Amino acid sequence: MLTEKDFIATSYNSLEAANFEWSAPSNIALVKYWGKKEQESSIAGEKSEQIPANPSISFTLNHCKTITKLGVMKKLDSKDFTFELLFEGKPKEDFKPKIQKFFERIEVYCPFLKEYHFIIDTQNTFPHSSGIASSASGMAALAVNIMSLEKALNPTLSDDYFYAKASFLARLGSGSACRSIKGEVVVWGHHAEIAGSSDLFGVAFSEIHENFKNFQDTILLVDKGEKQVSSTLGHNLMHNHPFAEQRFAQAHENLSKIKEVLTSGDIAEFIKIVESEALTLHAMMMTSMPYFILMKPNTLAIINTLWKFRSENNIPVCFTLDAGANVHVLYPESTKEKVLQFIQNELVDYCQNGQYICDQIGTGAKSN
Ligand code: PMV
Repeated sequence: MLTEKDFIATSYNSLEAANFEWSAPSNIALVKYWGKKEQESSIAGEKSEQIPANPSISFTLNHCKTITKLGVMKKLDSKDFTFELLFEGKPKEDFKPKIQKFFERIEVYCPFLKEYHFIIDTQNTFPHSSGIASSASGMAALAVNIMSLEKALNPTLSDDYFYAKASFLARLGSGSACRSIKGEVVVWGHHAEIAGSSDLFGVAFSEIHENFKNFQDTILLVDKGEKQVSSTLGHNLMHNHPFAEQRFAQAHENLSKIKEVLTSGDIAEFIKIVESEALTLHAMMMTSMPYFILMKPNTLAIINTLWKFRSENNIPVCFTLDAGANVHVLYPESTKEKVLQFIQNELVDYCQNGQYICDQIGTGAKSN
């Protein structure tokens, strides 16, 4: 089992200049990560950062992604991190502190970073202000580019190590980003029944039944505004939360159940777990102190309309939520035509400016 120490790059060459380009997708959790825990690192005297309080599992998406080019130039002095940041072709100063912090966090694992000047040129395939978190795809795309640099400095790295460390680095940028490296289904966080699962990086879960192949996710954009409560703050409110311990235990149980379901193809059971997880996530928000609500009236209207459609038509469609008001509508490919018709007829009016994004399960980061 890989520990933090194993991710410290120790032998590497040097290079003058290089260019890399990767795309990395967003992901949607089925069993949610909400809450972090304190843990000693395997590096003496260090604390591990971004360790999830419970394991989670997600579908990797396909169309919602970040495309990042990394230009690398060797520089003379290696005192500080130096980089330029372009977002959709234009300099973007307000993203820089997050990248600076990311570099500081990962420096111990990538000690070569200060020897280079970087040009990070990044864009999303989904609208910037759609309320879809771009931190997962963004951090994953940057992390995997940095691994391409490390691989150029040390060509002996194996593919397994490359992707495990890319996920490890992405986690340090934004927790759930570690689930955006490899598809189609990824587990992050140690779970007794998932071999190789780790708190430090995501691992692909590959025993997936035909029923879930090309599973669809249509994202209904209910509220495209900035989140009132950041996920960093929300995670912190799970400390001293009255239901935290039960919630963490429940996530372990739900992961055991969904593992069986994904393997056996039991969609009815899948729906129960996924919808309950979404509502539990929001219940945790509503019962923390201070409490908050991220759902909007239209979120609830969509849920109720979807439940009515499901029971009247016997079509296995369900919803999940992330930390916001938007609704992810999940359904098998075989029901696509009927569900899209239903969305057009009955749900579009609840979306801001009638907007929604059609996505489906994908296979993770790609080098362009
Ligand atoms: O990766 P973060 O810190 O933005 O947290 C993501 C939390 C949820 O999206 C609500 C759940 C999850 O597991 O993705």
